[in-house]
Amino acid sequence: MTGFALDYSGSGPTTDRWFAMSVVPLNRPEGGAVISHTDVTERKRAELELQRSRQELAHFTRVSTMGELSASLAHELSQPLTGILTNAQAAQRFLDVTPPDLGELRTIVSDIISDDKRAGEVIQRLRDLLRKDVPHQLVLDLNALIRDVARLLSSDALIRNVTITLDLDPRPLTVTGDRVQLQQVVLNLLVNAMEAMADGAEGDGSIVVRTQYTDVEAVHVAVQDAGPGLREGTHDLVFEPFYTTKPAGMGMGLSIAKSIVEAHGGVIWAANNPGRGVTVHFAMPVSIKGSE
Ligand SMILES: Nc1ncnc2c1ncn2[C@@H]1O[C@H](COP(=O)(O)OP(=O)(O)O)[C@@H](O)[C@H]1O
Ligand SMILES: [Mg+2]
Repeated sequence: MTGFALDYSGSGPTTDRWFAMSVVPLNRPEGGAVISHTDVTERKRAELELQRSRQELAHFTRVSTMGELSASLAHELSQPLTGILTNAQAAQRFLDVTPPDLGELRTIVSDIISDDKRAGEVIQRLRDLLRKDVPHQLVLDLNALIRDVARLLSSDALIRNVTITLDLDPRPLTVTGDRVQLQQVVLNLLVNAMEAMADGAEGDGSIVVRTQYTDVEAVHVAVQDAGPGLREGTHDLVFEPFYTTKPAGMGMGLSIAKSIVEAHGGVIWAANNPGRGVTVHFAMPVSIKGSE
């Protein structure tokens, strides 16, 4: 028999407390074991506090990123709204005609419905991202998640004159993780790439997102841009909190991405491309539970 250790919570007279119990069997013919209980409440509290502040911070930066994107979101919403108005006005005109052309009206109404659904989807995607939620682990397809985030950014990319090209592994990229957090990783990397390309201002550039399975039971995501690249010697520094080279930067994007990726058992790193720009990579374990 080997020993074991576990943390458990109990209720003290005034507050909940956490204890660590470890059991070490004695290697004697008559048996026996050393059992120890330690009060680890302070350590547990500090851990929970750290986790909570990381969540708060992640939520805060998510909200502020969305604030930056609000111009393009307004644009994305105003398209279906304009479509609905135009169609409703056309329907009004058709109703003035006797007898009204019912076939035409039917088409108009179904256009209104699909525009309305489109606007609803935009709002739903936003809501998902802005939700303040405790993280929960799901088996999910990283490719689908990347497609969602890229769609969310599509009109922003259009406005900035950059294209986002997806070169995704044809198989679903199955991982276990928190959807909103992983969306945030992809969002932060794409926003950085778009900002870098705007700085470069060298015509229209392309951001490429690649995904693939690696041969070590992991999935690999790479976000490549054609901006100015990282300043020399800053490959690790850029992942530090508050490191920023942007006048209005917060310097939190990559450090949050790093803490999320690491909390998912993964690694994140950045390297300048042989030509222009930088590629930020992350890899995380494949989920064993099979596809979504
Ligand atoms: N794609 C990129 N190209 C060039 N530099 C980058 C890129 N991504 C990140 N960086 C550098 O890393 C810094 C930190 O990025 P980040 O943590 O997202 O904070 P912020 O975007 O607020 O500056 C940036 O200010 C920039 O100097
Ligand atoms: Mg950033």
